[in-house]
Amino acid sequence: MKDVNEKSLNREKILSFLDINQNQRVNLEVFNQIDSTNSYLLKKDQEIDVFNVCAAEMQTKGRGRSGKSWESPKNSNIYFSIGTLLNEKISDLDGFSILVALDIKKALKKLYEINSQIKWPNDLYLNEKKFGGILIETKIINKKLLIIVGIGLNVYMEKNDFIDQEWTSLHLENPSIEIDRNILISQIVSEIAKDLNIFLKKGFKVFKKDFEKINILKNKKVFVSNYSEANCIALDTNDDGSLNILVDNVKKRVSSGEVSLKIQK
Ligand code: BTN
Repeated sequence: MKDVNEKSLNREKILSFLDINQNQRVNLEVFNQIDSTNSYLLKKDQEIDVFNVCAAEMQTKGRGRSGKSWESPKNSNIYFSIGTLLNEKISDLDGFSILVALDIKKALKKLYEINSQIKWPNDLYLNEKKFGGILIETKIINKKLLIIVGIGLNVYMEKNDFIDQEWTSLHLENPSIEIDRNILISQIVSEIAKDLNIFLKKGFKVFKKDFEKINILKNKKVFVSNYSEANCIALDTNDDGSLNILVDNVKKRVSSGEVSLKIQK
């Protein structure tokens, strides 16, 4: 595995590359080891208009969606979470995870000219293999909504025997590109901070067009956990970020928390 020790996570460097509004404050903590950056922020006190960001070189209990674990070996990947307190209701966040995936895609394109793909709702792919995922968790605290956005990206990982699906890393697909994890984290946080304000005012519908241009599921045969016996074809998304699917020729809507979905080859 490539030695990235000389480029370890560095709090000052991440902060120095942030490009955010003056009214947004970022409170950043960087750990060598943690159980899970999401779990840490779920326990931490949060404030309105402050982004609490927690990044780690490794996680001992990294968590993925659907109760799965997230492989988090040392010094090779990106594991970080952003937590903030909002005045909104949970339903105002419909489609937000798609926006986070779009922001990661945007950051990779801007910094490294990497064209990644997004599989609805928020898996990041390169050459049909997953390299990144997003875990969004929420909690109500004193009538405010705490949201934690957890992001895991395989950056320099070359080998892992514990992942039960086809996976890749940014380095495996782009060996000639030198990726700086600090700058990439900074850019992703900046993109999310910028888009969160727009999203909270206008919702997912403003970003839907961008997503539809790159919706890799569109018109593909898919396996949908809730309709495992049926023939399912994915269609487009709705203004709330839900996905339309044809289930045995009948149009239905599914939301991200509701189903697990695989492309059928
Ligand atoms: C997925 O299953 O696709 C989502 C994976 C999310 C992993 C990230 S790594 C940083 C943050 N902390 C966690 O425990 N999980 C998320």
